[in-house]
Amino acid sequence: MLVSALQTKLADSRIMKPAEVTASAEEIAIRFRRGGDKVIRVTISATLCLSTIFFVFTLGSYFHGHMKTYFASSEEQLYIPRIVNSCPPCLPPYCSNCTGSVSVLPPQQSVREWMAPRAAWHSMTDQELMWQASMVPQIQEYPFNRTPKVAFMFLTRGRLPLGPLWEKFFKRHEGLYSIYLHTSPEFNEEPPESSVFFGRRIPSKEVQWGRASMIDAERRLLANGLLDFSNERFVLLSEACIPLFNFTTVYSYLINSNQSFLGSFDDPRPMGRGRYRKQMWPIISLSDWRKGSQWFEIQRKVAVEVVSDQTYYNVFREHCGPPCYMDEHYVPTLVTKTLPSMNSNRCITWVDWSRGGSHPTLFRRRDVSEAFLDREVSSKHT
Ligand SMILES: *[C@@H]1O[C@H](CO)[C@@H](O)[C@H](O)[C@H]1NC(C)=O
Ligand SMILES: *[C@@H]1O[C@H](CO)[C@@H](O)[C@H](O)[C@H]1NC(C)=O
Ligand SMILES: *[C@@H]1O[C@H](CO)[C@@H](O)[C@H](O)[C@H]1NC(C)=O
Repeated sequence: MLVSALQTKLADSRIMKPAEVTASAEEIAIRFRRGGDKVIRVTISATLCLSTIFFVFTLGSYFHGHMKTYFASSEEQLYIPRIVNSCPPCLPPYCSNCTGSVSVLPPQQSVREWMAPRAAWHSMTDQELMWQASMVPQIQEYPFNRTPKVAFMFLTRGRLPLGPLWEKFFKRHEGLYSIYLHTSPEFNEEPPESSVFFGRRIPSKEVQWGRASMIDAERRLLANGLLDFSNERFVLLSEACIPLFNFTTVYSYLINSNQSFLGSFDDPRPMGRGRYRKQMWPIISLSDWRKGSQWFEIQRKVAVEVVSDQTYYNVFREHCGPPCYMDEHYVPTLVTKTLPSMNSNRCITWVDWSRGGSHPTLFRRRDVSEAFLDREVSSKHT
């Protein structure tokens, strides 16, 4: 701007003295007023001077532009693109398949979202989900105040018949737990917004009792829970489970333990070792073979092991179909093989097998009295 103004004034031959212009410009002005035979010399000097000024200014603005890029606080040059709105329950970076507009988001906000996705729903495939869930930070300390949470993972067909009891259990303990629901894929009822189960369904698939699809559902639940970096303990529950102790007791028992509660034992009977297949060798030998209840409680490190395992999973998937029930053997065998010191080898869900048969006792309304619960609770407390 300054340069072009100077040029205009020179062309008019009526040079003023702009405060910003240096001594050489003043000199030009004086020579101009003298006029006459020195006109050519003056023109050459003026051209030279102008070229120099123009060059300096061009160079200046060029560097200015570059500095802006390197030290940019300028929003238009440093931004994290984010996908918004088009698929509400799907939050980045967990969004693999939704298209949306790109908007500007301060980076720290997306980091928080990364550490604890608010929505349980997303559009990742199982493969993408397991991959993401298997990531483990290599720096031990968290860059935020981490209150460890217990992830309660419900593997159900539809509605939770004992939901109201669970609502009472969780009441006033927000921030200490997370809930995940794996239901039949056709079940799409959403509880009222006031419920602790609202919006906690994860993308689910068909599950068949005793088949690999049951393990897939468990792994899906674990993987979703792992996406929240505050989840430390992972409890697998069925729709028939009820809590026998209050939240405080359950929470402190689990959080203060350095062991998992996953039943795992060597059962020499046909319904134990009898289910082992020779084709599993050499990856799994008969001495590795374990049995345990499907309903487990494990800590984060063990959960990562379960979602990232490919080796044992593939062997089980191929060779352990009914009458080999994958849900009674896969996780116990895997954990005993890979992280034996992290497991107590017992589970903390109670099931009554005393009446025999392949299904445990089903308690009905008339079976459950205060005296019955008191008896069970006090016998478990010891
Ligand atoms: C996800 O992607 C697949 C393949 O690109 C496409 O067929 C499908 O419609 C997409 N789903 C959604 C919800 O956008
Ligand atoms: C939870 O249960 C424990 C032991 O049974 C008891 O001491 C405690 O007071 C209970 N807490 C609440 C909040 O009810
Ligand atoms: C768990 O804690 C006990 C003591 O409370 C300790 O002896 C044991 O080595 C710990 N186990 C692991 C795997 O850290």
